[in-house]
Amino acid sequence: MTLPIGVLVSGRGTNLQAVLDAIAGGRLDARVVLVASDRPGILALERAARAGLPTAVFDEQALGSRAGAHSAMANALRESGARLVVLAGFARILADVFFEKLPGVPVINIHPALLPRFGGRGMLGAKVHEAVLASGEAESGVTVHRAEPGKVDEGEIVVQRRVPVLPGDTPETLAARVLAVEHEALIEAIGRFTETPAH
Ligand code: GRF
Repeated sequence: MTLPIGVLVSGRGTNLQAVLDAIAGGRLDARVVLVASDRPGILALERAARAGLPTAVFDEQALGSRAGAHSAMANALRESGARLVVLAGFARILADVFFEKLPGVPVINIHPALLPRFGGRGMLGAKVHEAVLASGEAESGVTVHRAEPGKVDEGEIVVQRRVPVLPGDTPETLAARVLAVEHEALIEAIGRFTETPAH
């Protein structure tokens, strides 16, 4: 059965685009029922609008608090019929109320490094790749994991892929190599939920 998914975004939305392309290409039996963001005017929302998808912005200031915004977002996702929520570059930590309002709906997050080592609060964007390079590790990677209340970059790993660190890498070159693998790993991870909807 085609899996209805909600996608949460905060930025340029290349992971969202990869999901949309996989669906359009028949590689993923899902449909995006809502693209939600914490901020307006981002490229990810443009991509969604271009694909004719419903979008919504839940601004924390306008809605009074993070919990207020995430509560409203959970309501919208419930109304959309989403059976899986995908954090595809969503830059906020979800308030507990978000999970409380969506019982039985798995939430997955894509992280641009190997967890658990290179994760946690503040490990966002270029900082993750800087930390990997500073560690001297020969490999980085991609982790798609279940998001859980009160936890950051923890939760059951759904898909993990390794990506080599190459001599001379900068945070930018490593990020680009990791990003290409993110797109495939995310599609694979969502695919797992289409095979076993009760996961
Ligand atoms: C990705 O690197 C993802 O792993 C991280 O945020 C970035 C989002 O990129 N959580 P995009 O908006 O999907 O292009």
